[in-house]
Amino acid sequence: MLDILSIFALAIWNYNPKTIRMNQQKVVISTHINEVLEAEISACQHDRLFLLVDATTRQYCLPLVETLPCLQGAQVIEIGATDVHKDLDSLSHVWQSLSDGGATRHTLLINIGGGMVTDLGGFAASTFKRGINYINIPTTLLAMVDASVGGKTGINFGGLKNEIGVFNNAACVILDTEFLKTLDEENILSGYAEMLKHGLISNEKMLGELLSFDIEQPSLAELQRMVADSVAVKQRIVTDDPTEQGIRKALNLGHTVGHAFESFALARTPLLHGYAVAYGLICELYLSAIKTGFPTEKMHQTVQFIKEHYGKMAITCDDYPTLLQLMTHDKKNVSGIINFTLLGNVGDIRINQTATKEEIYEALDFYREC
Ligand SMILES: NC(=O)c1ccc[n+]([C@@H]2O[C@H](COP(=O)([O-])OP(=O)(O)OC[C@H]3O[C@@H](n4cnc5c(N)ncnc54)[C@H](O)[C@@H]3O)[C@@H](O)[C@H]2O)c1
Ligand SMILES: [Zn+2]
Repeated sequence: MLDILSIFALAIWNYNPKTIRMNQQKVVISTHINEVLEAEISACQHDRLFLLVDATTRQYCLPLVETLPCLQGAQVIEIGATDVHKDLDSLSHVWQSLSDGGATRHTLLINIGGGMVTDLGGFAASTFKRGINYINIPTTLLAMVDASVGGKTGINFGGLKNEIGVFNNAACVILDTEFLKTLDEENILSGYAEMLKHGLISNEKMLGELLSFDIEQPSLAELQRMVADSVAVKQRIVTDDPTEQGIRKALNLGHTVGHAFESFALARTPLLHGYAVAYGLICELYLSAIKTGFPTEKMHQTVQFIKEHYGKMAITCDDYPTLLQLMTHDKKNVSGIINFTLLGNVGDIRINQTATKEEIYEALDFYREC
């Protein structure tokens, strides 16, 4: 039996209903991937089918769907795994494979992988013959709750992350935590940091559930429901503000300092994105507490959870100027003013905040000492 628990096409934040109607994206929460995928493929008219995987998802994730009768004629395109391959060479390989395989404007591309595959595959599909349909099947927690939804596609270029890309929604995103069985603990935690962010910008109930969940030994069935709640948060925000003019900036919570930590770590031991976000959340909750009245006991609860599960990246006060400079160069800033998304309370989002150098240094002190 087709088991679709939820189809999100939410229009809750409806002060701009026109945008909402234009930008609904179908997200299907599945527990029987084959049945759901078959239904979604047949709902998406196509002549040929291509599957995009990376070397790792070919090994661990493709076997979960490849016996599906409707995929028997599908051609598989493989690219290298991880973000270092989210580049022009891989993109060119995908375009070439589509072209060589006889893809037309009516061909359907199915991306099976983490955010690297869904970003690059989404961009390849959006540009091949001026755009073909694509379906995302995210296989990491980060891609499930974040990267695969919301229409941002692209590649890294010239040493810059996500420098080239377009906004274009997948025809459908299918979420199934069954894929997470083979994902390592670090990548689970990395995605979970984005779920914590979604809890913080939503409500106490969701945050409370996240802080008490056993993420070290997760029940995939429970996680499936939490993933559904979490992706619905992103979904309703991007539906309302698809191109980040306003409320989509809520999703940047933890990311101004987080991106600085991430870039800083590149020169030492690279950090997974979610770890950098978790550390960024510590600093930005502190800024929220001193600048926008975020309750300190709620800050401590979240900080405690992060310390316990994510550890810490060692920094000293000698690193502050470099970190500040990295924050100043964040591409979200306008006229060199560092832009933060802060909170007045759980769910009380304050976009377009700024902070002085002293306040930022204080937040970094807090990070080191907490
Ligand atoms: N478009 C957006 O809105 C958005 C948002 C956040 C992040 N991103 C992008 O997403 C990317 C990061 O995504 P990610 O964290 O999923 O990384 P990733 O896609 O590189 O996956 C991480 C690793 O896990 C492996 N993997 C994937 N699924 C697996 C599974 N089920 N079992 C075992 N191994 C598996 C991958 O092969 C890879 O080695 C970055 O490129 C980032 O820029 C995009
Ligand atoms: Zn993020």
